[in-house]
Amino acid sequence: MSGEHETSGEEVLHEREELAQAEHAIAESSPSVGAVRAAEALADVEPVPGVAKLDPILVADNVSRHFGGVRAVEVDHLEVQRGTITALIGPNGAGKSTFFNLVTGFDQPDSGSWSFDGTDITGTSAYRIARLGMVRTFQLTKALMRLTTLENVMLGATAQRGERMLVAPLRMVWKRQERDIEQRSDELLERFRLSHMRDEYAGTMSGGQRKLLEMARALMVNPSMVMLDEPMAGVNPALTQSLLGHIQALRDEGMTIVLVEHDMDVIMSISDWIVCFAEGKVIAEGRPSDIRTNRAVIDAYLGARRALPDRADTPKPVTEDET
Ligand SMILES: Nc1ncnc2c1ncn2[C@@H]1O[C@H](COP(=O)(O)OP(=O)(O)OP(=O)(O)O)[C@@H](O)[C@H]1O
Ligand SMILES: [Mg+2]
Repeated sequence: MSGEHETSGEEVLHEREELAQAEHAIAESSPSVGAVRAAEALADVEPVPGVAKLDPILVADNVSRHFGGVRAVEVDHLEVQRGTITALIGPNGAGKSTFFNLVTGFDQPDSGSWSFDGTDITGTSAYRIARLGMVRTFQLTKALMRLTTLENVMLGATAQRGERMLVAPLRMVWKRQERDIEQRSDELLERFRLSHMRDEYAGTMSGGQRKLLEMARALMVNPSMVMLDEPMAGVNPALTQSLLGHIQALRDEGMTIVLVEHDMDVIMSISDWIVCFAEGKVIAEGRPSDIRTNRAVIDAYLGARRALPDRADTPKPVTEDET
């Protein structure tokens, strides 16, 4: 028998737990490289609506969309800084989802133009925009319940050769591509801890798992920008933490994230920059510290009977009794 100490399973587990705790502590105490980069890029940007950014990946001009008499979106000018987590906030019906639909090609505007990474993509189809590197997820998840988790993720790959009629009979060509797509899908399932659901119907997943599935599917095209419409809505607290971790990790890898979210604690903790919509317009922009005390933002939320979180550093919202 050797005199060396053999590590028991329990000790290994304990060590892993300690490591996880240490990693968590580091993550809590020091901002990530991506957060520092984003803060530097936005350091000299004035917190005013429509302000220019140093290196914008998305630029929108005079974008408007009306539904009958409702002015759903009327954005004069908006720029999204590359490599940041930019949050869109605003009361229900403020035009956040409509703005997402317009810039990602899922709806057509009444007027306006916008560019992505220097390319004018006004009126471009969602499919082409995705191929250029801008993808989005939906407020209501769009998983296909009668397909497996893997098949749902594989659908995110654009320009699959086997789908084109002329090439479809050439099995050799698409078989190889399909293998690559399956491999990438498996990597993404692993990343989002969904591998155990790989061959299950998406219909059997929880709401939170479907949100993760949608993110995995969006990443199939290796996008440079991801727009997430309420990725945390209806997700349990543990999975919310994991989603937040994924979103930060994507930003740290250099991706630009634009997300719509109603939970102000989440917004304030994760965002590098916040854009507030009200009645279709951008009424405020800035860092979380700017937005927390912004009069127009507070008024917009109070007008809709929603309040910013009651924190020591937040002006106390007026309650209904006081109004
Ligand atoms: N397809 C449509 N037909 C008619 N009106 C619409 C349509 N889509 C949106 N609207 C209206 O446009 C306005 C903006 O809606 P939108 O869904 O963009 O708001 P939102 O900021 O995403 O709200 P929420 O936070 O509730 O998701 C609302 O008044 C809404 O009723
Ligand atoms: Mg919406």
